[in-house]
Amino acid sequence: MTEKAEFANLLQESRMFEPSEAFKAQANVNDNSLYERADEDFEGYWEDRARELEWFQPWNTVLTWEPPHCKWFEGGKLNICHNALDRHLDGPRRNKAAIIWEGENYDTRTLTYLQLHREVCQFANVLKGLGVKKGDRVAIYLPMVVEAAVAMLACARIGAIHSVVFGGFAPESLRDRINDCEAKVLVTEDGSTRRGKALLLKDTADKALEETPCIKKVVVVKRPYGDPYQCTMKEGRDLWYHDLMAKADTDCPCEEMDAEDPLFILYTSGTTGKPKGVVHTTGGYAVGAHSTCKYVFDMKDTDIFWCTADVGWVTGHTYIAYGPLMNGVTQIMFEGVPNHPHNGRFWEVIEKYRVTIFYTAPTAIRAFMKWGEEIPQKFDLSSLRLLGSVGEPINPEAWIWYHTYIGREGCPIVDTWWQTETGSILMSNLPGVNGMKPGKAGLALPGVCIEIVDDQCNPLATGSGLLVIKKPWPSMLRTIWGDDQRLIDTYFSKWDIQTYFAGDGATRDEDGYIMVLGRVDDVLNVSGHRIGTMEIESVLVEHPKVAEAAVVGKQHEIKGQAIVAYVSYKGDVSHVSEADIAELKKFVADKIGAIARPDEIYVSHDLPKTRSGKIMRRLLRDIAEGRELGDTTTLADPSVVEEIRKQLA
Ligand code: PRX
Repeated sequence: MTEKAEFANLLQESRMFEPSEAFKAQANVNDNSLYERADEDFEGYWEDRARELEWFQPWNTVLTWEPPHCKWFEGGKLNICHNALDRHLDGPRRNKAAIIWEGENYDTRTLTYLQLHREVCQFANVLKGLGVKKGDRVAIYLPMVVEAAVAMLACARIGAIHSVVFGGFAPESLRDRINDCEAKVLVTEDGSTRRGKALLLKDTADKALEETPCIKKVVVVKRPYGDPYQCTMKEGRDLWYHDLMAKADTDCPCEEMDAEDPLFILYTSGTTGKPKGVVHTTGGYAVGAHSTCKYVFDMKDTDIFWCTADVGWVTGHTYIAYGPLMNGVTQIMFEGVPNHPHNGRFWEVIEKYRVTIFYTAPTAIRAFMKWGEEIPQKFDLSSLRLLGSVGEPINPEAWIWYHTYIGREGCPIVDTWWQTETGSILMSNLPGVNGMKPGKAGLALPGVCIEIVDDQCNPLATGSGLLVIKKPWPSMLRTIWGDDQRLIDTYFSKWDIQTYFAGDGATRDEDGYIMVLGRVDDVLNVSGHRIGTMEIESVLVEHPKVAEAAVVGKQHEIKGQAIVAYVSYKGDVSHVSEADIAELKKFVADKIGAIARPDEIYVSHDLPKTRSGKIMRRLLRDIAEGRELGDTTTLADPSVVEEIRKQLA
């Protein structure tokens, strides 16, 4: 059997891979002490983790839990920017590289802790000069440039709340996010390239800015190379980053923040059409970000850490902007994509900077598999010592491929389960403590109370059920911006007000290892990105030719899930052309962003509905996946299914 065929046969993989003795010997934790401590004294365990940070003033109370609201480390005062930067300046880390940035076009820029601190202080003063005060919101719409991290840290430094919007979002998505949190200032960029093509962020931002009365000033970062992107600057509103920075003082003391002061808002998709502004606070989030870097990623001073996520997602917040810096490591910030200008770009970066810890998403791994192991084999990956996976279930074949060709069978893999709402990793093996099972995120971290339950919320020792969290954790979301009721409705209303329902299905094996199976609600996970089916549906029905829309997910070899939309058309369905379908796809991409572009759209005169008018989504999923259709006798109009089927390739 060829190696490729062997990989295809790994669906039932159940081997346990133990970390090597050498890895264990050097790990930050290599015994059960953290689990034992957390079991003995839950609050004491989290206090130990909080003591790993520097506080201006210690807390009085560890936890106040008035479900569904929690407060952690009340009375404590700290600043996460102080922990990420200032506290490293008195010792040998002062002139160590904090961020090594590599641009898509091979430009590089390195900032030491001292230099990053200076730039952050200056930008904090810029923000203050623009009238930003503690508690004000600042929107950040930037690609993967150092200034994104600088802007986030500068906000944290002065107590402003940042709301980073992924650079791939369309004007309307940006507009809605800005208006929902009433941001005062927007930080953006003139333009850059993605896969060699121009990405004109300021032009996109300008469209959003037509309807964002709350924004008073726009700070525009100019690309360091050349001057290819001419953007329009609105007099009195738009200001160049470099002009402001040239005049800004380098001295800016950190605001002393209460542990429960908000740190950031990050919008994420849910089961309704409107994205939710997930609110994280300072102390608990800092504790979660710091401790997971230390114990899950086993970060040490000698590490070169690379998380490939974008700062626009939570992974980029916790494992680029905050966690690695709080641990004083050197990290890579990469602007490009895995396959530009060639399919080995990631491995080239690892070789070039001798990356030791690499954190990426299964979608990328599946794409690498498809391109062939010959590509990574051309590069020296021997610096790697630990690998990570995030964002979606990793299928055992992809896990084994990652382990074999990237980890060269010597690197533990941490399959990390968490969410925008959880703030930091909640489930993963500790790489120096427990073995790994391909495809299984494994065990809840110490101090995290994850259970798998049945429909009535009875805990299941083994088998399949729903993933819930029974106790609060420090980096838990505190509320939904401007809509606290939504916190209750979305996460704490399925059974009782104490049980957080994550929205995922999972199974647990005899060793207690958990495999997260994916969302059980109307949220899709496309290439590790969350997209609500309702969000896409509500855009589709805005199109003048669309009467109704239903969106479902379909398994996809690389992306995990693909987006399939069914629409009922106003007018004559028999005349719908390929160009009409392409127009509908573009319509969605233009309104939400390219990540939401449907892969397939089927058009019919009506959608399959029950006689009481309910759209039969299960049937639509079956059609999309090419499954046998079960009982269709409840359909009000069976001809609809035939009409759709005819369009299937
Ligand atoms: O379905 C789970 C999946 O991603 C969802 C969270 O998405 P988001 O808030 O965008 O955060 C992604 C990065 C943390 C979860 O509800 N998910 C995340 N990590 C894993 C995962 N599914 C399986 N295994 C994982 N390791």
